[in-house]
Amino acid sequence: MKIIRDIKSLQDAKRELRGSIGFVPTMGALHAGHLSLMTKAKSQNDHLIVSIFVNPTQFLEGEDLESYPRKEEADSKICQLAGVDILFMPTSESMYERDELRIGAPAIKGYILDGEKRPGHFDGMLQVVMKLLNLSGANRAYFGKKDAQQLALVTQMARNYFLPCEIIPCEIVRDERGLALSSRNAYLTEEQKSRALFLSKSLKRATKKVMAGEVECDVIISEMRAVLEGVERVDYIAIVNRNFERLERVELGNTIILVAAWVGDTRLIDNLWI
Ligand code: PAF
Repeated sequence: MKIIRDIKSLQDAKRELRGSIGFVPTMGALHAGHLSLMTKAKSQNDHLIVSIFVNPTQFLEGEDLESYPRKEEADSKICQLAGVDILFMPTSESMYERDELRIGAPAIKGYILDGEKRPGHFDGMLQVVMKLLNLSGANRAYFGKKDAQQLALVTQMARNYFLPCEIIPCEIVRDERGLALSSRNAYLTEEQKSRALFLSKSLKRATKKVMAGEVECDVIISEMRAVLEGVERVDYIAIVNRNFERLERVELGNTIILVAAWVGDTRLIDNLWI
């Protein structure tokens, strides 16, 4: 595995690769969720590039940019074991100049739900993903369904900018109790981890209701809200279609149920695709 930190060396190394490139962009603190993206990318491509870059432009003022977990050594080992060909870990200085041309999130889809709670987050995320897709030259890039809105926006960006890269959605990975894996789970104490389970429990309650024939979104949302009483604050519970338009009634095969909530000082998200 080559560890590359500068853009010129990445371009040189890429020139030596023959065949298809799968790409997994990450912010590090790798866990089994990331590993599942890498495994899928490895199985579908001749080469695998992974990036680790804690992208400053997608963090809002007062968010956890400074404290975001950084585990370079452990992450490198995981990538080595996963059969990564190139691990790209650029510096902020090499990725950005002072007066940057901006990629913006779409006016509606980029500013609802997480985009409303974290205004500007998706602009920064799309900006860095555009750079990383160009730099990696990927034929396919792998994104987890846990960040459902991110996945929808990246897919739209690839479509709107005619990027020669297929965006591949990957299933959410959970721990044995049901907690969706996230690098930010590292902030949680054991007690908070137990309370964080209310997110997946609320989604399980939603599943039960749907299986029992309930399709009214208001009813499902109020059932979920009751389960979520165990967390500090609920940012949103939403039921949308795959295009992120609010639904009044569940449409099987075209529905995402999303929840964002705070446990202690940690904001968690989870969702269910039905
Ligand atoms: O999902 C993430 O880890 C980040 O948003 C991404 C896609 C690596 C862009 O910084």
